Amino acid sequence: MARLELDGKTYELPVVVGSEGERAIDISSLRKDSGYITLDESYGNTGSCISNITFIDGEKGILRYRGIPIEELAEKSSFVEAAYLLIWGKLPTTEELSTFSALLTKHEMLHEDMRFHFEGFPPNAHPMAILSSMINATGCFYPQVLGDGHEQFLMQAARLISQVRTIAAFSYRKSLGLPNIYPKPTYKYTANLLHMMFSEPYQDFELLPEIVQALDLIFLLHADHEQNCSTATVRIVASSKANLFASAAAGVCALWGPLHGGANQAVLEMLEQIHQSGDNGSKFIEQAKVKNSGKRLMGFGHRVYKNYDPRARIIKKKCDQLLAALSKKDPLLDIAKRLEEAALSDSYFTERKLYPNVDFYSGIIMRAIGIPINMFTVMFAIGRMPGWIANFKEILESLDGHISRPRQIYNGPQDNHYIPIGKRK
Ligand code: SDX
Repeated sequence: MARLELDGKTYELPVVVGSEGERAIDISSLRKDSGYITLDESYGNTGSCISNITFIDGEKGILRYRGIPIEELAEKSSFVEAAYLLIWGKLPTTEELSTFSALLTKHEMLHEDMRFHFEGFPPNAHPMAILSSMINATGCFYPQVLGDGHEQFLMQAARLISQVRTIAAFSYRKSLGLPNIYPKPTYKYTANLLHMMFSEPYQDFELLPEIVQALDLIFLLHADHEQNCSTATVRIVASSKANLFASAAAGVCALWGPLHGGANQAVLEMLEQIHQSGDNGSKFIEQAKVKNSGKRLMGFGHRVYKNYDPRARIIKKKCDQLLAALSKKDPLLDIAKRLEEAALSDSYFTERKLYPNVDFYSGIIMRAIGIPINMFTVMFAIGRMPGWIANFKEILESLDGHISRPRQIYNGPQDNHYIPIGKRK
């Protein structure tokens, strides 16, 4: 129990201890008992839920999906298998995996009438705007799967994981004025996305195993990450009993911001800008240290990791492997490595425990594959979809069942009155 002394009274608050020893003070009775609430803007010290899905130890740089270290999954698993693990809490048997994979194949096509929605967007519409609206629109075409039964959930989840890929590919093709390439039932998840993005009606894209594996790894590494901004958004929307498509569409919008999933696009823009300027990165680093310079070392720092993001370590290694396999060199990777080296020997960054995060190197891989920079955050959204779905399911099954509704401290004008417009100054 935690004891709180307030206005001469002592309040005993239960302490909750998680399976990894994390501790929280349960304040759910605080307002009722004391009239006080707590204040924690941007929630850096506030747990919104008890979850069994993903564990992060920010100090030690640990990330586990359902208890399995990300390093093991990165080496031995696949994105679809990790998606099953996150959503249903266990690694699938051979039969379960093939049934799940077949369901994704069955639902890979969009409803043909959704074509008209794509035509309504301007050619330069950002793919994240298209993605969030088309995910919500998808729900309109399958009213029969809306509802919170197990079967409906499975159908919604399969459609979302499968069709987020098709929507992404179609938005990419539209941005280039190219005809849509339809999915092939013989292709597995990530290969099919590459096919839909880069094949032409007259010839299929060459699916190099190294490219397919690298993008599959990117999806796996992005699949879930505790209560990050977009996942917390999905949970809040889900708590109002909105359907999974609406909750996921809200998650896409939250992910879009450059401080969150939009950082992978911002990192490449930063590296390009440094490359064009001829600066070896040292000038930029100095600017990023000046508070109101408007420059940040994008892809560095994290709300939770105060150590190297384990995903960044895995992606950095994959960058070298993929570029070697493709016999490609990328000056931006050299700049990124120089920036990392300079930052990690600069007390400004080390004192603030700012290390590379998942976004610092991921864009190099996507650029080597030929994915355009405005699609980087869409790739993040495809990867994060299983995590959003797993958290939606956890809310759906939670016994609490309350709608999420934070309180606030009001600090505005008191005792004000209406003034007729003729008398206003
Ligand atoms: C993702 O939450 C998740 O799990 C997210 C994610 C996921 O998988 O869902 O991991 C994905 O969003 C990764 C983060 C991607 N964003 C970026 O790379 C953008 C660049 N990073 C920052 O803007 C920042 O580090 C945040 C937003 C990521 C974290 O911000 P915090 O923890 O709120 O840190 P802060 O803003 O309070 O900064 C603390 C200090 C400040 O300096 P002082 O006031 O102490 O002098 O560190 C400085 C900041 O100015 N700082 C940076 C910096 N990040 C923090 N200075 C320069 N460059 C940076 N990148």
